[in-house]
Order: sequence, then C-alpha cells, then structure tokens
Amino acid sequence: MAPHPAFPRFDMTAIDLSLARSIGTFVFEDVTFRPEAADDAAAIDAIHDVTFGPGRYSRTAFRLREGHAPDGPTSLVAVYQGNIIGSVRQTAIVVGETPALLLGPLAVLPALKNLGVGKALMRLSMEAARQRHHRLVVLVGDFPYYWPFGFRVVPAGRVELPGPVDPARLLWAELTPGASDGVAGSVRATGPAA
Ligand SMILES: CC(C)(COP(=O)(O)OP(=O)(O)OC[C@H]1O[C@@H](n2cnc3c(N)ncnc32)[C@H](O)[C@@H]1OP(=O)(O)O)[C@@H](O)C(=O)NCCC(=O)NCCS
Repeated sequence: MAPHPAFPRFDMTAIDLSLARSIGTFVFEDVTFRPEAADDAAAIDAIHDVTFGPGRYSRTAFRLREGHAPDGPTSLVAVYQGNIIGSVRQTAIVVGETPALLLGPLAVLPALKNLGVGKALMRLSMEAARQRHHRLVVLVGDFPYYWPFGFRVVPAGRVELPGPVDPARLLWAELTPGASDGVAGSVRATGPAA
C-alpha cells in the first residue's frame, strides 16, 4: 500500500526508546504516543468499531477484558493532528497464579494502516511493561505480526481462556528470560473495575 501522502512512514529504528524511559509522552514525526486517558475511551471505541466491527464483543479476549480498566502505563494512544489514530491496550491478568498482562486490542485507523503506527505502539507498550517490571505478556493475535516483539506460540494446554481461541494465535512474550517457565492455568483479568 502506498503511504498516505500526508503521513510519513516510520523508520522504527529511529525511535530511541531511552527517551520513552524518561518521559510519559513520546513524539515522533508529528505523532504523539502517550498513555491512554479516561476521556479517550470513545475515540478508541470508534477505532475498534471500524477495525473489528460489532462482532468484537463476542471474541474471547474482549470478553475476558470486559469490565476491567486497561493498565494505565502500558495502554497507549497515537495522536496525529489532535485525533487518536491508533491504540494499544494491556490489561492485568493472572495465568493460574502468575501475574501477567494481556495485550490487545491493537488497532490503527484503516486509512493510516501500514505506516508503522502499530509497530511503534507495540514497541513503546512493551517497553513500558518492561520498565514496570512486568515479566510476561499474553495475547491472541497473528504470530507473523507479533513475533518480532518477542511473542511465541504458547505450548499446547498451558493457558486456558474462558472461550474458544485458535491455539496458533495464543502467544506470549517473556520480558524476563524464563518468565514463562512453569506458568500454566486459567486466565482471568485482575485489573480494577472499568
Ligand atoms: C494490525 C494493525 C494493528 C497493524 O498496524 P499498522 O500500523 O497498520 O501496521 P505497521 O505499519 O506497524 O506494520 C505494517 C507491517 O505489518 C504487516 N502486517 C499487518 N498486519 C499483519 C498481520 N495481521 N499479520 C502479519 N503481518 C501483518 C504489514 O504487511 C506490514 O509489513 P511490512 O512492514 O513488511 O510492509 C492494523 O493494521 C489494524 O488495526 N488492523 C486491524 C485490527 C487488528 O487486526 N489488530 C490486531 C489484532 S489485536
């Protein structure tokens, strides 16, 4: 797809994550990446509506997160000319007894797809999780998109979600080597009520 004429294609290697460590907000090529605020919810929901459609509510990962607030520091939005153009959320969960994060939804406005916004949100959100000493991030999504961020297919039978999930799309990333060792069980959200 040709880049949107008014929008630069990101060179992800140019993002210096050490800056993201010292400030809550990160600006790159006129796009601001910042933690989600309470009054962003309607704009984010509108993006979810166009990217996932109304059927999203029946998906297992959506149902799991329902009623729980996103994790503040790791849930980010991308803002361009005052508009939210992309969002990534993470939610506190446990897998069995082990605390972890559930990443998703990740969504970018269709008109601005394939310009690097999704990758930027992923890198910054994973870095924020690392800084907060989270050890393990779980998600349901396409392995080819997520593997560069450290995600691998969860070994069969280790993680149970409260609904059907294609096992090839159930992924986790260790933020600390060995963080998934011995982890097994049912997933439930533990974040505060939304
Ligand atoms: C998936 C999504 C978040 C990616 O964000 P984006 O800003 O469009 O993507 P980026 O510019 O960061 O990355 C684009 C690259 O990822 C690839 N890509 C995009 N979606 C992909 C997928 N589902 N599987 C594998 N690769 C994918 C593109 O082909 C492109 O590859 P290239 O860099 O080699 O050209 C976005 O397209 C979107 O909102 N899609 C609909 C919602 C969705 O499926 N969300 C993910 C599930 S939670």
